[in-house]
Amino acid sequence: MPKTKTVFVCQNCNATSPQWQGKCFQCGSWNSLVEEIIAGPKSSSSSILIPLSPLTLNQIEGKSSQRISCNLLEFDRVLGGGFVSGEVVLLGGEPGIGKSTLILQVGAAFSSCIYVTAEESLFQIKTRANRLGIQSSKMVFLAENNVDSIIATVRNLDLKGEGETLVIIDSIQTVKTDDLSSVPGTVGQVQECARRLIALARDLSVAVVLIGQVTKEGSLAGPKTLEHLVDAVLYLEGDRFLDFRVLRGVKNRFGSVNEIGLFSMQENGLRQIPNPSEELLKDRVTPASGSVLSVIIEGQRPLTVEVQALTTATSFGFPRRTVNGFDYNRLLMLLAVLQKRVNFNFANFDVYLSLSHGFKTNDPALDLAACLVLVSALKNIPLDLKMVALGEVDLLGNIKKVSQNEKRIIEAKRLGFEKILESGNCQTVKEALERSGIL
Ligand code: TYD
Ligand code: MG
Repeated sequence: MPKTKTVFVCQNCNATSPQWQGKCFQCGSWNSLVEEIIAGPKSSSSSILIPLSPLTLNQIEGKSSQRISCNLLEFDRVLGGGFVSGEVVLLGGEPGIGKSTLILQVGAAFSSCIYVTAEESLFQIKTRANRLGIQSSKMVFLAENNVDSIIATVRNLDLKGEGETLVIIDSIQTVKTDDLSSVPGTVGQVQECARRLIALARDLSVAVVLIGQVTKEGSLAGPKTLEHLVDAVLYLEGDRFLDFRVLRGVKNRFGSVNEIGLFSMQENGLRQIPNPSEELLKDRVTPASGSVLSVIIEGQRPLTVEVQALTTATSFGFPRRTVNGFDYNRLLMLLAVLQKRVNFNFANFDVYLSLSHGFKTNDPALDLAACLVLVSALKNIPLDLKMVALGEVDLLGNIKKVSQNEKRIIEAKRLGFEKILESGNCQTVKEALERSGIL
């Protein structure tokens, strides 16, 4: 039996119900009822309100938010220079992407760290730590899923000075409080457990990392329901079958959200990639048709990526269009522009357009590169291996300047690419095709 009284509240219309129902009886919305604890009646003494004293900025005490580095520069960068004491960070990502691996590496850098696993056994964690070569005696591990026991345990630990401690909860969907009757992972449980852990972080001035699973569909009880509660939200993204991982900040109360960290998943854990463009291009040696370079902006960082296209004769009458990392409708538009403005007809060809290394972007700067590779693939003519194409293509077939154009050009030049087709030196797609030698 739950110790406290709870009620199910519709997140849509605030109607309350004593038990869970799939459909709200008042507004009719589905799956909107979330279990919440009913606050007990206030004692009569608390109803006598005592006037409080607000403080000026000078009167507010506390250490300046000194950053605690985790020795992984790419992780620190996304946090805005490291953890701040009392900060609660949500680290989300699809299952199997490497969240537990990354956070174990981060925890090992702290002078004291408690890693609570509610998902795996302690032996599984030990196996992973061995694989990563972590032998820290400063880390302690606990297999427990009751959030109140976890909090009591952390309070009881002899913690190293303020802010030097990291508490890891892996994962927030698998911990629960007995005060709610719902099962772990439901919105009510996830939010209540997170609230209690946030209070702990503030109280002890320790940094807390909550791991959250997201499914491909962005599951309901997943990190999305916690974003407004925590200080920073980071997502680890990438294709779990490829090495490349991007750590992206989507919310950060103590820094910029326009930062990304780049990693590669290796046999012995995540390795940082300080020079991503070099890394991405190192296996690109022989010219092939349907391939050209372009520069995208990820967070604040320019990244040189390879755009690839393939065209094959359609066998079933209706041509296929397949994209990987690109916007599908954007491809349809570019095909229409190529047909109307430069007279290349793809009606009898299946078209595949892809961004290398599992990157996904809607950056319009890739338009020109996409047009070039599509024609290069169709005509089976390789493009210059050292050429970079940058620019948005409009419906008239003109090349438009993209945001942070200069930054992208500087990045391409830094890598030694001198032949750069962009709005500053090339007006139309037709001209770009001529200048690249395929028209
Ligand atoms: P994991 O950190 O368990 O993912 P998550 O916590 O996000 O579910 O890592 C999952 C994958 O990473 C798993 O398929 C194995 C792989 N892996 C490596 O390739 N190298 C390593 O050193 C480790 C620890 C895991
Ligand atoms: Mg995990």
